Amino acid sequence: MKKILAILTVIFCFGVTAAFAVDGGALYKKRCAKCHRDGSESSKSGGGVVLKGQSSGEIEMKMNGYADGSYGGKKKKTMIRIASKLKGQEINAIAEYIGSM
Ligand code: HEC
Repeated sequence: MKKILAILTVIFCFGVTAAFAVDGGALYKKRCAKCHRDGSESSKSGGGVVLKGQSSGEIEMKMNGYADGSYGGKKKKTMIRIASKLKGQEINAIAEYIGSM
């Protein structure tokens, strides 16, 4: 009986984690790819930045920097609007995804 309970608990936990985990790749495609394409280039409205090759730590730092106003170039207004709408967990997941490109 104890064993079955343990197994059920594990299955339940996996289910819950999967349901709440943020999919960085899906978020990227939905919220970032319009301007940053596949990360190796950016459209004109994407400021021409290249995200591919940057570490997840760098991306996270820059995103948080846009959100709190401590980072950015000439076109930072665009990114401030985007970054400040994302939750920390979402920034983290997207940064992980970009870091693994
Ligand atoms: C409407 C177009 C647009 C969208 C959508 C967009 N960005 Fe950007 N992004 C820009 C522009 C423009 C810049 C350059 C801003 C500047 O001058 O600082 C930029 C810069 C960045 C930078 C800084 C790059 C560097 O090395 O300095 C990061 C990181 C970034 N974007 C990540 C993202 C992520 C992650 C998303 C999705 C959540 C996203 N962007 C969505 C337009 C966009």
